[in-house]
Amino acid sequence: MHSTDALTSDRAPKFFMEDMGCHMNRVDAELVVGRLNGGGFERVERTDDADVVLYYTCSVREHAEDKVYGRLGALKRLKKERPNLVIGVMGCMAQNHKDLIFERAPHVDLVVGTNRFEDVVALLEETQHSRRVLAVDEKELTFERDLGVRPKRHQAFVTAMRGCNKFCTFCIVPFTQGRERSRPADDLVEEARRLVDDGVVDLTILGQRIDTYGLDLDDGSTLAKLLGRLHEELPSLARITFITSHPNHMTEELARTIADHPRISRYLHLPVQSGSDRILREMNRGYTVDEYRRKVELMHRFEPRISFATDFIVGFPGETEEDFAATRKLLFDVDFQNCFVFKYSPRAGTRAFDREDDVPLEEKERRNQVLLTDQRAISSAKNLPRIGTVVDVLVEGLSKNDEGRYTGRTDQNLIVHFPAGRDLTGRTARIRLLSCSSVSFIGELV
Ligand code: SAH
Ligand code: SF4
Ligand code: F3S
Repeated sequence: MHSTDALTSDRAPKFFMEDMGCHMNRVDAELVVGRLNGGGFERVERTDDADVVLYYTCSVREHAEDKVYGRLGALKRLKKERPNLVIGVMGCMAQNHKDLIFERAPHVDLVVGTNRFEDVVALLEETQHSRRVLAVDEKELTFERDLGVRPKRHQAFVTAMRGCNKFCTFCIVPFTQGRERSRPADDLVEEARRLVDDGVVDLTILGQRIDTYGLDLDDGSTLAKLLGRLHEELPSLARITFITSHPNHMTEELARTIADHPRISRYLHLPVQSGSDRILREMNRGYTVDEYRRKVELMHRFEPRISFATDFIVGFPGETEEDFAATRKLLFDVDFQNCFVFKYSPRAGTRAFDREDDVPLEEKERRNQVLLTDQRAISSAKNLPRIGTVVDVLVEGLSKNDEGRYTGRTDQNLIVHFPAGRDLTGRTARIRLLSCSSVSFIGELV
């Protein structure tokens, strides 16, 4: 059966969807799945079974884009066999490359940017009349969601704001996501309330610089006030998390709010990118190493239990051994619980793109490994003294690689695996920590 028949016939057309980006990208993909469910489509797990194949893409590094083109290449055969198969590219790479995608992958039918995904059903309909459909223009989003589409019954992610105004010189996000737009706090609290009524106890609110939440609304809204409201109005939320933080807008009000509200996560993702002031300046990050450290101290002054995770970029243009040594020093000084390291990837359109990508790939790889090895040592040293202590763990479900064990996270985002005789998913369990690696613990129910 051909897909045109499928899209217009009585049987439910089938779609395959893979999301390939960050948390915010994943939420947009969930919104799309909700729209498709509402439009009578049925999700399938294999491209072979699908009438429509959609990729929800990321542009943040070249590797992310290569992966999409790889997936598209692999679909050529299927498209030849079934010319009516509809292939769509959505998300950041769609916004970034626009009709270039049709040139590089001529068998693609649909390209949908970051402001048009809510129209997915109508756009799919349009592919039945025109050969290529490109929807990358501006449009206001409604954020309407199908509450049932979320990672787990007890867990949900909510986008609090879109876009980014910071324009770090390496970063494509302001170009793919546009300027910062916050959603009104009332809308967010209402959406959270409906999710909680439907069983959610673990809520994460998202923004590229979540600490700037509300500043564009001109009604006095701040992240701290939003977190306070969620905490007070939704007492059955066991955990409230927010990502991603940027040091410039982390305020004392935020520090106090975290300290005063025990169900707000004690784990902050606060990307620093580099430990060298010169590189930070060239990245346009807007802070010095010292200012970053002072923000960490501010948070610790109000709540010493906060643990920090960070992102580093290695091999930014002109990064010397000395710059890298400063990054290593910062990694040890702040004593991060966790870090993510990325090899610099030039992105066309960004300011750094004009500079020579002069750190050789092998050297980027070396610096990457050095930081990861350092971090493993730090994490192990932080984890060891925790053995023997008893912690509260919000249970996420069965462990992925160890059947019979459950996995959960503490409010400091420590990952704990433990055996349990019954399904504790979505509950808080008291666990004694018995052993650890640099990434997780094994424990037992108390
Ligand atoms: N809004 C977040 C980060 C968004 S992108 C922030 O401001 O920190 C996620 C991470 O990808 C960044 O923290 C950065 O470490 C990395 N990244 C972004 N652009 C990159 C590039 N061109 N090359 C390599 N890593 C990059
Ligand atoms: Fe990108 Fe910088 Fe904005 Fe983060 S703050 S999304 S790194 S431009
Ligand atoms: Fe996220 Fe990648 Fe876009 S990190 S905002 S999906 S470029």
